[in-house]
Amino acid sequence: MANQNQSGKNSDGSYSPIIGRVPRILHGGDYNPDQWLSYPEVLAQDLKLMKDASCNVMSIGIFAWTALEPEEGKYTFDWLDRIMDDLHRNGVSAILATPSGARPAWLSAKYPEVLRVTASRVRNLHGLRHNHCYTSPVYREKTRNINTKLAERYKDHPALALWHVSNEYGGECHCELCQGAFRTWLRERYHDSLDELNHAWWAAFWSHTFTSWEQIESPSPLGENMIHGMNLDWKRFVTQQTRSFMASESDPLRRITPDVPITTNFMGTYPGLDYFRFRDDVDVVSWDSYPSWHGVGEVSLHLGKWDVEGRDYRLAADIAFYHDLTRSIKGGKPFMLMESTPSVTNWCSVAKLKRPGMHSLSSLQAVAHGSDSVQYFQWRKSRGASEKFHGAVVDHEGSSNTRVFQDVAAVGRTLGKLGDIVGSCVDARVAIVFDWENRWAIEDAHGPRNDDRKAYEETVLAHHLPFWTRGIATDVIDSECDFSGYDVVVAPMLYMLKPGAADRLTAFVAAGGTLVSTYLSGIVDEHDLCVLGGFPGGLRKVLGIWSEEIDSLYPSERVPIECLPGRGPDMYGSYEAREFCDLIHLETASAFAEYRGEFYSGRPSATVNKFGKGEAYYLAARTDERFLDDFYGRICELKAVKQSVSVKLPSGVSAQVRRKGDREFVFIMNFNSHAQTVQLGEPRYTDVLSDRDLNGSVTLESYGATVLVRSAE
Ligand code: GLA
Ligand code: ZN
Repeated sequence: MANQNQSGKNSDGSYSPIIGRVPRILHGGDYNPDQWLSYPEVLAQDLKLMKDASCNVMSIGIFAWTALEPEEGKYTFDWLDRIMDDLHRNGVSAILATPSGARPAWLSAKYPEVLRVTASRVRNLHGLRHNHCYTSPVYREKTRNINTKLAERYKDHPALALWHVSNEYGGECHCELCQGAFRTWLRERYHDSLDELNHAWWAAFWSHTFTSWEQIESPSPLGENMIHGMNLDWKRFVTQQTRSFMASESDPLRRITPDVPITTNFMGTYPGLDYFRFRDDVDVVSWDSYPSWHGVGEVSLHLGKWDVEGRDYRLAADIAFYHDLTRSIKGGKPFMLMESTPSVTNWCSVAKLKRPGMHSLSSLQAVAHGSDSVQYFQWRKSRGASEKFHGAVVDHEGSSNTRVFQDVAAVGRTLGKLGDIVGSCVDARVAIVFDWENRWAIEDAHGPRNDDRKAYEETVLAHHLPFWTRGIATDVIDSECDFSGYDVVVAPMLYMLKPGAADRLTAFVAAGGTLVSTYLSGIVDEHDLCVLGGFPGGLRKVLGIWSEEIDSLYPSERVPIECLPGRGPDMYGSYEAREFCDLIHLETASAFAEYRGEFYSGRPSATVNKFGKGEAYYLAARTDERFLDDFYGRICELKAVKQSVSVKLPSGVSAQVRRKGDREFVFIMNFNSHAQTVQLGEPRYTDVLSDRDLNGSVTLESYGATVLVRSAE
């Protein structure tokens, strides 16, 4: 069933448009006409404004269940019929949502089992959204019913282009139905054997051995939460149960409208769901991106050294990572930026307006990394309730005569010139591993540094940064993905080795690949049981080291590191280790940097192991960004990894490439609040937006971005 609608890859590596009849970059937003049904003049105005903003899609019905089914079994589709007709008449395609993200009050009142139960075993009252039980047979039945009605009613409607299934799936339910489903899932996983489960969970610890399946309960602050294998299995189950709910509500859509593709909107690295598992459940991946541009105080933890001027650039690096991750979930197929704000959000502590240029820049950044859409939350500001001050294309003022509307309209015109880019691909020779199960295990670990619980994502971002600043394309994959197509695979803190991962990484290196691994790798298996016989377990041979102990540092402590010129990547100079200093023994590897402090002064802090036709690096210490930048600079030179443009980019400027056949589209983006000139070097470039040939350089205004085209080599 899955992938039926998936448009295939063409022989030149490009893809078909997401919506076949709209071979353009999609532009639109979340549209909630159901909030405005008693304001016909507003609805009429919307259509005109959509045209003015060059919108070609609208996501509708996301929270419209009560408007569609005000009483159980009584359907009111007439308003949606009119909206669908109007959209179509105005050249706007409908990304039609299933309404399961928020349910009518009658449903909660009549069937309380649909209400979610918290980990503390308290059942929610009706209200809010995104808070239903994923197991409840009643909720599944009711969502299937309404989805069936929607699909039957609009299957032949010319506006229907894509299904937006639910909204931002997330959270978990601990009700009795979910407990039962969890036990069933465990019985299957452990072949009906409690012995197997008890061993996998190391349940003899604290006398936690289970002697009946009924004793097993989901993790709770009131009960069990220290069995790591169980916590991990619960998270796996939540992903599985969410997928199963999605499959249940997608079923009528697949059946009745087999040619209409399906998506659901993800949230970057949202911790609660392993998004890689959804890759076959969706035909196109989409996500909601809400960076806090122009932040000063609250940006993110690892921005310490970046001054205010550099922070947008540093934040852009993180957003680039999320785009790369989203694109990689479906193997590089163009994704959708399903939501972004045209101006401000309303949920961060300080909501700054996007500075002039930033709206276009951040929108083009998504396209640069493989998005074939730029969409907003929300089309129009709601009049009441909690999102009335959230940014929108159309303000309460109601006209097109606002700065934000004009910015959006300008983006619409720009995207209109980028039709050739639709379906183009990103050729990445470098992959960074970001693995959800690994992250869950690391975040659950007690020790070696309990202040470090959230550091996995930051560490992966830090290893992505040196490639991004060089304009080198990266895929972001998990440890179950195929490594064989890459020149370089970077797997920071690969604490958990899932079955086969070590063998596949070893084979990748043997065949000529370059692997970069770090401290805290190869520590546990898929059950979070420690590897016996020495760390890094299955990677010991390919890395050629044994990690005996790891020293943890307080946040302010540093241990000097000295590089050994002429060895490995031939780095020289002094750096600093922070947080983790792994004390390793060389087996077949050789050191290219050593500690110069503490009782382990003189011991290796970074190594390389020649293995087969490739090499495997081990960074034993966590370092500052400067070390990573210099190190990856050398790796890219040694592996001749191509940059987007042949010259060094000025600080604050990012360059990314999408290719279609023999044409490469080069996005040059200036995240500085001042103008910047970029020397382009060879070959010749044409500016896609102005259709003018360039003379070796391009000047970008503050937060300026442009798209160039050149022939692929
Ligand atoms: C999420 C939701 C939207 C809206 C925005 C606000 O992305 O999907 O419905 O609440 O957040 O930023
Ligand atoms: Zn439940």
